[in-house]
Amino acid sequence: AHIVAGLKVANRNVMVALIDFEGNTVSEYTAALPASKLSPDDMAGFIETSVRAAAQEADMDVSQISGLGIGVAGIIDAPRGFVYWSPSMTERNVGLRDLVEARLPLPVFIDNDANLVAMAEQLFGMGKTVSDFIVVTIEHGVGMGIVIDNALYRGTRGCGAEFGHTKVHLDGALCRCGQRGCLEAYVADYALLREASITGSLSGQDPENATLDMLFRKAKSGDTTAQSIFHRAGRMFAMGLANIVNIFDPELIILSGERMQFDYLYADEVLEAMKAAVIQVDAPLPEVRIHKWGDLMWAKGAAAFAMDGVTDLAIRK
Ligand code: BGC
Ligand code: NA
Ligand code: ZN
Repeated sequence: AHIVAGLKVANRNVMVALIDFEGNTVSEYTAALPASKLSPDDMAGFIETSVRAAAQEADMDVSQISGLGIGVAGIIDAPRGFVYWSPSMTERNVGLRDLVEARLPLPVFIDNDANLVAMAEQLFGMGKTVSDFIVVTIEHGVGMGIVIDNALYRGTRGCGAEFGHTKVHLDGALCRCGQRGCLEAYVADYALLREASITGSLSGQDPENATLDMLFRKAKSGDTTAQSIFHRAGRMFAMGLANIVNIFDPELIILSGERMQFDYLYADEVLEAMKAAVIQVDAPLPEVRIHKWGDLMWAKGAAAFAMDGVTDLAIRK
C-alpha cells in the first residue's frame, strides 16, 4: 500500500503520522524540539531525523514513503514550499521545502499548519459533509483554515487565513508577530501565561515550565485572578468569532485542537457574547462545533496534503 507521512511542527515538539491512502493511521511518532525557534538548517535536520525515526518505528525504509507533508505555523507560500515567516524559525524567507528535499528521498509539500487542520477536518473530521466551513485552532498561537466551495482558501499570496493576527485592540498587547493588538496576543497560550506572570497567578512556578493546564486548574479551584484571565480571553475570542461570522457567514465553525479541553473558549457565555456581536437577522446562526482531536489531526492533515501532491505529480508524469 502507498504510505505518506505528515508532520506537524508544534511549539515544543514535532509529530509525524504515517497514513495509507485510505487515511488510516499506520504509525505515530513524537519528538521534543530542542528549542521553540530553530535555524532553517536545524529545522530541516530535525524534520529529517523525525521522519527517519518514524519510518524505522514502522519497520519501513524512508524510500518506501511516497511523500511528506509538513504543517508549519506562519506565512507560507505553499506552491513554492517557501516560508515567509514562521514563529518556529529564527529566519525569514526560508525555502524550507528545498532544504528538506535535499535531505530526504521524498517529494515534500509544505503549508500553513492550520490550513492543514482544515484539510484534515474536510477529509477525516467534522467538515466531511460541509462545503463551506472555517476551522479555528488555539494552542501556542491562533490559527485558521478557510474552506470555501470544498476548496482551501489561502489568499492570493498565501498570506490569508491569519485569524490570530486580526486586530481587536488599538495599541494593545504585543503579539509574537511583532505587532500589537492581535487577537492571539489575548487568547493564545503564551498570552495567558504572560498575563498570569504579570498578575502573579502562578507565583512559585518556574515561568519556563508553567502550563496553561496549571492556570486552568487554579481557576477551577476558585482563584479569581486566574478566572479573570480566562474570562477576558473568552470575551476577546467571542469578538473574534463574531468577526468571522460577520465576514464569512460560514455553514460551520470548527474550534479544533487539544486546547478545546479547556471550556473557557466555548462556554455558554462565550457563545452568547459572540451571538450578541453578530449582526442580528432572523436566521439561525452558523453552527459552532468543538473538536478535541490533538496533534494527530494536524499531522494527518499534512499527510493528506502530501497525498494530494503525490497524486498530482503522478498525473503530470
Ligand atoms: C501563526 C499562524 C499559525 C498559528 C497556529 C499563528 O501565530 O501566525 O500561521 O497557523 O499560529 O500555529
Ligand atoms: Na491558516
Ligand atoms: Zn500578531
